[in-house]
Amino acid sequence: MIKNLYIQQLELGSMANFSYLVGDKSSGEAAVVDPNDDTPAIEAAAAKAGLKVISILLTHGHFDHTGGLKYYSNRLKLPAYLSDNESMLYVPSCKTLQRFTDHATISVGNLKIECLHTPGHTPGCTCYLLEGNLFTGDTLFVEAIGRTDLPGGSAPALFQSLQKIKQLPGDTMVWPGHNYGDTTCGRLQILKTENPYLACATEKDFLDLTG
Ligand SMILES: [Fe+2]
Repeated sequence: MIKNLYIQQLELGSMANFSYLVGDKSSGEAAVVDPNDDTPAIEAAAAKAGLKVISILLTHGHFDHTGGLKYYSNRLKLPAYLSDNESMLYVPSCKTLQRFTDHATISVGNLKIECLHTPGHTPGCTCYLLEGNLFTGDTLFVEAIGRTDLPGGSAPALFQSLQKIKQLPGDTMVWPGHNYGDTTCGRLQILKTENPYLACATEKDFLDLTG
């Protein structure tokens, strides 16, 4: 277990999606996962926690997850990380974009954050894994999953991505990109039974459920 790991879930912005402040209290450095457009509130949370945001981690390129880039990338010039696999449809206009491949590691202070490619909602969807914490964006919510009917989406790909996630330890905490469930986060072992999409044992069951 990492000492001084700080995680704060922030339900903010015009789309009310979740942004996350993920910091290392020992170095005072933090990343923001999926910054929404309420950057003053994100910055206030970071200041209150004694953290300085040094980088941005994007789970994918949809606009509700990238609203804060204008401030963090274009104004503060912080690096913004996005999968190499993301559709050109969803690559934000951003001068500090850093592309990565599956299993890349991003350092924030003493934290080492692993990038897991989990396509399906978009081609470049990524979950960020950090010491038993998984930031899932629109790949996996507490009681639902992201849409697969948008351009670049693929239900079979999302099924495979969920099987990859299911291999992680049961006590992994899932931190989703939207508040779709009775709780705002949940342990993987609970979601495996309570999230009907994650509970599907076969691709056929999954495709029947997603329609
Ligand atoms: Fe999305």
